[in-house]
Amino acid sequence: MRVTFMGESGRGVVGGAKPFMGAWMLLCHSLLTVLLAAVAASPLNNTGPAGCRAKCGDVSIPYPFGIDPGCYLPGFNLNCNDDNASGVPKPYIGSVELINISLLSAQARIYNDISWQCYIRTSHDMSYMLRSLDFTAYPYRFSDADNKFTVVGCDTLAYIRGQNQKARFCESTCSSSDSPTNGSCSGIGCCQTTIPKGINYYAVTFDGDLKNSRVWDFNPCSYAVLAEVNWFNFSTTYLTTADLLDTEGSGRAPVVLDWAIGDEPCEVAQRNRDSYACRSEHSSCFNSSNGPGYLCNCSRGYEGNPYLPDGCQDIDECTLKDEYPCHGTCTNIPGDYICSCPQGTNGDAKKGTCQGSRSNPFSSVKLVIGIVASTSFALLLLLCIVLSLVRERRKLMRIKEEYFRRHGGRLLLEEIKSKQGLAFKVYTKGELEQATNNFDKNRILGGGSHGTVYKGMLNDNHAVAIKKSKIIDDRQKKEFGKEMVILSQINHKNVVKLLGCCMEVEVPMLVYEFISNGTLFHLIHDRNRTSHVSLDARLEFALQSAEALAYLHSSASPPILHGDVKSSNILLDDNYNAKVSDFGASMLVPKDETQFATLVQGTCGYLDPEYLQTCRLTDKSDVYSFGVVLLELLTGRKAIYFEGPREERSLSSSFLSAMKEDRLLQLLDNHIKNEMDIELVQEIAELAQRCLNIRGEDRPTMKEVADDLDRLRKFKQHPFLQHNLEEIENLLDKPSSYIKNETFGCYSIEKKATLDIECER
Ligand SMILES: *[C@@H]1O[C@H](CO)[C@@H](O)[C@H](O)[C@H]1NC(C)=O
Ligand SMILES: *[C@@H]1O[C@H](CO)[C@@H](O)[C@H](O)[C@H]1NC(C)=O
Ligand SMILES: *[C@@H]1O[C@H](CO)[C@@H](O)[C@H](O)[C@H]1NC(C)=O
Ligand SMILES: *[C@@H]1O[C@H](CO)[C@@H](O)[C@H](O)[C@H]1NC(C)=O
Ligand SMILES: *[C@@H]1O[C@H](CO)[C@@H](O)[C@H](O)[C@H]1NC(C)=O
Ligand SMILES: *[C@@H]1O[C@H](CO)[C@@H](O)[C@H](O)[C@H]1NC(C)=O
Ligand SMILES: *[C@@H]1O[C@H](CO)[C@@H](O)[C@H](O)[C@H]1NC(C)=O
Repeated sequence: MRVTFMGESGRGVVGGAKPFMGAWMLLCHSLLTVLLAAVAASPLNNTGPAGCRAKCGDVSIPYPFGIDPGCYLPGFNLNCNDDNASGVPKPYIGSVELINISLLSAQARIYNDISWQCYIRTSHDMSYMLRSLDFTAYPYRFSDADNKFTVVGCDTLAYIRGQNQKARFCESTCSSSDSPTNGSCSGIGCCQTTIPKGINYYAVTFDGDLKNSRVWDFNPCSYAVLAEVNWFNFSTTYLTTADLLDTEGSGRAPVVLDWAIGDEPCEVAQRNRDSYACRSEHSSCFNSSNGPGYLCNCSRGYEGNPYLPDGCQDIDECTLKDEYPCHGTCTNIPGDYICSCPQGTNGDAKKGTCQGSRSNPFSSVKLVIGIVASTSFALLLLLCIVLSLVRERRKLMRIKEEYFRRHGGRLLLEEIKSKQGLAFKVYTKGELEQATNNFDKNRILGGGSHGTVYKGMLNDNHAVAIKKSKIIDDRQKKEFGKEMVILSQINHKNVVKLLGCCMEVEVPMLVYEFISNGTLFHLIHDRNRTSHVSLDARLEFALQSAEALAYLHSSASPPILHGDVKSSNILLDDNYNAKVSDFGASMLVPKDETQFATLVQGTCGYLDPEYLQTCRLTDKSDVYSFGVVLLELLTGRKAIYFEGPREERSLSSSFLSAMKEDRLLQLLDNHIKNEMDIELVQEIAELAQRCLNIRGEDRPTMKEVADDLDRLRKFKQHPFLQHNLEEIENLLDKPSSYIKNETFGCYSIEKKATLDIECER
């Protein structure tokens, strides 16, 4: 049991009885510290098998790693080369320098070169150094827990990609209102993002387009590197000087690799005794936690190298009194130790409670003293535990109340009371924990950079979707209650209903109605589907989404901007009605200049170029993003992809150039081509073109877009629903609820290098 109670000073448990309580707590603390003896990690036996070099320079090379032939397991071979500069040999994996190896954590540390791009002012030219590391032929993968992808620069977008694997973006901006600060790497001048689990290939790419000439002047170079989490501490000087690199233009950072033996789980590997790597008699096998393969560990009571036949040696506990306490006679046995009370006494010598036995003449006196002592000790302990529990509970409640107050919970409660009949509920943390089975991983509907969405079952057997955001800025925190009041009143058949929220936690959680039939993204881009979506159905989805957005922009009071319109934010209900979701993360229209959003949010491929420049989110930004959704519907292509020539990677730009060159037909979805209704398609394409106007002012309003779509639909005059519902029903082989992965994060969906990405700050 672990009980903490000597936390912060200040507020006592019960105001009046403070000194008394203080003394008690002190006593409790010393008592429990004595009881909870710390167990430190044991040293490792790093000596390799006979005849093998166990060191290269100053670095220990434990088996399964090795330098000489026959001294390593497949893939764990190292080179040990003389380093001409220092004269001390150094180990290398291929040509990558190795720093050190840990058997216990199954990790190795290597140096990774920093990638950069610089602007050469004299020639107006760019120079690049893009680095990659390829461990696909090795038993290594980049540790997702211990590394971060770090990018330094102003208006820089860099991404790492794996081979047929997931990609991650990191975007760093600089603006006059937010200047970079030392030690902070959160999107301003510097950006850090985690990497996907299990990747073993890494390559950096910069997106040169993001950078504008203003920025080049004071920040000529951008850098990007995958590095160990604690290695990096941002300094503003990195933006203006070349401190991160040496005079030859190279710089390096440590990066942590996880390794594992083979690619089979324990149960399979054990069947082949010849190749099974847990050679030591006293060793056990466990599956690698982040990829294929397994690892070995010495059993309890043994230490050393589990990969060597006699590697795991018995620990002599009797010589390690601090870790293995014994207040009597200690005897070491294989794998354990015996600690007995001195002759003539009994009790538990490990705890130091040896007492005289009955045959002793003084036994009865000692017995009484013993009983009294141990009873009072037990009582004391019990009291301590009760007190700490009470204190913990109060602290927890205080924390909950504090969050509730900070997020404007009171205001919200009053509003709800005053507006009778408002179907909005403030949930407690406990209720949501129960609904999601303590935020069980199996309940995750989607997750990524912004947060995680869980499926929840409320007590009344109502399914809901619970959104747990990762970050929230301070302004949002303060105004959360106010925003909830407004969002709760939104009532439109094509908007996902916000049912309630929970404010007892640091970042408030939102509770939405559960929509069962996946997303529009899924419907359009799922290549496994057998049937196709007709043009009428597409038009209907577009119209419904447009109406929802028009409602948010013009009928809601105050107007609400969505901020992240994309096909994966348009959900489909049982009857294939489109419902716009995730507006809860968006901002209300700011009332004054100081409130403009300065952080870029949104999704690559859908981002309004004007917004990127001005950092000002407007209703026209939503119109732009909606234009991209229209294109997806028309072309069946994703908003951004990595196949083909560079200029064709963004759907909006390839569409605009196709329109200019009058070759729209090439882009269209084959299914639509078949039921070609040239006039209608042309009209929708022109509408999309207007939505994608570079200047926000020149784009139509959402209301105009909706009216146009409605007109086009009437013009088509086909009774859509009867005819098409069945058809769509067949589309989805298995009814998915939202979609995993595709909605959030940067995941490869197809085996090919097609990626759906989301910007990460
Ligand atoms: C180190 O020196 C050896 C010969 O003295 C040479 O072959 C090798 O290329 C040098 N290595 C480096 C990294 O300079
Ligand atoms: C490896 O090196 C890092 C940093 O240089 C150090 O923190 C770590 O303790 C070392 N690990 C081992 C097993 O030597
Ligand atoms: C950050 O630290 C460096 C020195 O390490 C200093 O030169 C620079 O002025 C600091 N920047 C800010 C914004 O404080
Ligand atoms: C990072 O550097 C700043 C000064 O530039 C210092 O105040 C801060 O403590 C450093 N942080 C870490 C984690 O080393
Ligand atoms: C190892 O993984 C396999 C399948 O991947 C699983 O069947 C087995 O139970 C796992 N073993 C352990 C010890 O976790
Ligand atoms: C391996 O053994 C060490 C020490 O014996 C222990 O700290 C560690 O938790 C074990 N790891 C696993 C995965 O069992
Ligand atoms: C380490 O392992 C080697 C080889 O199995 C063995 O000879 C040696 O005694 C071990 N050392 C310790 C300290 O256990």
